Amino acid sequence: MKQEALLKSSLIAAAINFLLHPESALAIDFKEDIRPILSDKCFKCHSGPRAKGKLRMDSDENFAKRIGGDDPVIVPGDAVSSLLAVKAGLPRSNGDAMPPPPARERGAEAMTTAELNLVKQWIADGAKFDASEEGEPATSAEGAMAETVYTWVNTENKKLEAQFVSSDGTNVTLKMEGGKDISYPLAKLNAESQALAKKLAAE
Ligand code: HEC
Repeated sequence: MKQEALLKSSLIAAAINFLLHPESALAIDFKEDIRPILSDKCFKCHSGPRAKGKLRMDSDENFAKRIGGDDPVIVPGDAVSSLLAVKAGLPRSNGDAMPPPPARERGAEAMTTAELNLVKQWIADGAKFDASEEGEPATSAEGAMAETVYTWVNTENKKLEAQFVSSDGTNVTLKMEGGKDISYPLAKLNAESQALAKKLAAE
């Protein structure tokens, strides 16, 4: 199994990277990764002074009042107890789902699984607004032409260090250390790595 061998050989590099960047190159950024999802799927009813359920997501200051505290919709570090993620993950058939099922019928779309996973990961990471608490992506040291080396994580939680080449929406092509290209099924990457591939493909 070629890919397995590649993943194994990259584990050492991943371990070194982890020692150098324990905060992980994959940390989720609120403004870049989460706010756009909320803006797209939730702001319609949860922005401005008349936000539904007294839950205002478009102002960090207001949103922060519902993160932790007495009446939280987000419990930092605990996505399972976070009403926001729970409601966003309920099926259309459940009357407590967000957006509310009647609104969904009229085109207010639910979060996709990948979006919900990102939100859950952001909550699990502590639901922070501040991007400066995030790690920088690991970059290859040598060569003026050096491209960014990203850490990719598959659904088995194995890490792989590689440059991004392209993605066709089904597979992602990565350039391994040593210049070898591999094609990897997007579906086998975890939600964060899938989102990263999509983001890079769109650039
Ligand atoms: C079409 C309007 C609409 C959209 C879109 C919408 N909501 Fe809501 N939301 C409401 C209404 C109305 C309430 C208050 C009644 C209730 O709790 O069911 C509410 C309440 C909530 C609450 C509970 C607040 C509390 O303190 O009880 C949460 C959490 C929530 N929404 C999350 C979301 C998320 C996450 C999204 C985006 C995926 C979203 N909503 C999109 C209308 C909407």
